[in-house]
Amino acid sequence: MKVLVLGKTGQIGHELCKLLDNKGITYHAPDRSELDICDAVQLQTCMEHYQPTIVVNAAAYNNPVMAENEPSRCFAVNRDAVAELADQCSRMDTILLHASSYRVFDGEKQEPYTEKDPTNPVGVLGTSRLQAEQQIRERCPKHIILRLSWVISDRRPNLLHRLVEQMVKHREVYVTPDQLGCPTTASEVARVMVAIMQQIDCGADTWGTYHYCSSEPVSESGFAEIVIAEASQFWELKVRKLIMAKMDSREGFKPPANATLECTKVLNTFGIHARPWRSALPEIVRQHYEEPKDH
Ligand SMILES: NC(=O)c1ccc[n+]([C@@H]2O[C@H](COP(=O)([O-])OP(=O)(O)OC[C@H]3O[C@@H](n4cnc5c(N)ncnc54)[C@H](OP(=O)(O)O)[C@@H]3O)[C@@H](O)[C@H]2O)c1
Repeated sequence: MKVLVLGKTGQIGHELCKLLDNKGITYHAPDRSELDICDAVQLQTCMEHYQPTIVVNAAAYNNPVMAENEPSRCFAVNRDAVAELADQCSRMDTILLHASSYRVFDGEKQEPYTEKDPTNPVGVLGTSRLQAEQQIRERCPKHIILRLSWVISDRRPNLLHRLVEQMVKHREVYVTPDQLGCPTTASEVARVMVAIMQQIDCGADTWGTYHYCSSEPVSESGFAEIVIAEASQFWELKVRKLIMAKMDSREGFKPPANATLECTKVLNTFGIHARPWRSALPEIVRQHYEEPKDH
């Protein structure tokens, strides 16, 4: 197995490279100076030079607020580059493992979303995610699309960072009680990706779309309460009160209220069990405190 990892500096890409290192799996992870995924020539050169058996696409445009203001940039990275990548993978008979998101759904469902639920994205970012999935399905038969819920880690802006930053600075922190998700650590996503890759490498012929998130859905406000308990062991927190806020105040449009995903298919197909996020949280909070990486 030869893996090409795109997005090595991101939350998932970084953890994936660490895990591939630990497992002794051969991989190449170009940084942005070597490969801009929007550059088809660079992409082709990289693919032909490295000849991967699997490409993991963890490169993405991820900012929902900015996406509303610069949709063409968002679609260029999230949809058009992915379409080109899917074509090149198909041409070289390479497997494409692509990270996608709960944002393909509108979040109106009351239960966790299954892979069979109808999609209906809200906003530019969600639409770009869905269109990327459609491009992959049309162009590259050997694909795995892995949809994820909220991703947290010790690097890059994410829900955990935003909460800690606000709790350190403000006496009152605004959180939403009616937005539900399953915080999933980037290292947990890496574990799932490697498990899938290893089974595919052993001949599993299971192309398609899968959901994965850690177990135990939680509201943003419920998560914030647990973060206070963990973060107060490290930081001098100013926060005294969590203010329950309406959902649409932050992103400029209403984000999906329900980001929870049903993970039975990934369990039945690959034997991958969802692990609880609670047990992973203390370590991430500690890492974030000891080595803050907001880049
Ligand atoms: N973050 C979440 O909460 C979340 C939730 C659900 C699903 N996901 C999915 O997981 C995937 C990765 O998320 P993440 O949180 O790990 O992302 P991230 O931390 O924002 O990292 C994005 C990565 O993409 C790279 N990138 C962006 N534009 C690029 C370009 N034109 N060429 C090459 N590389 C480029 C970035 O490189 P630079 O460092 O050079 O900018 C960075 O390495 C996304 O596809 C997303 O759909 C994320």
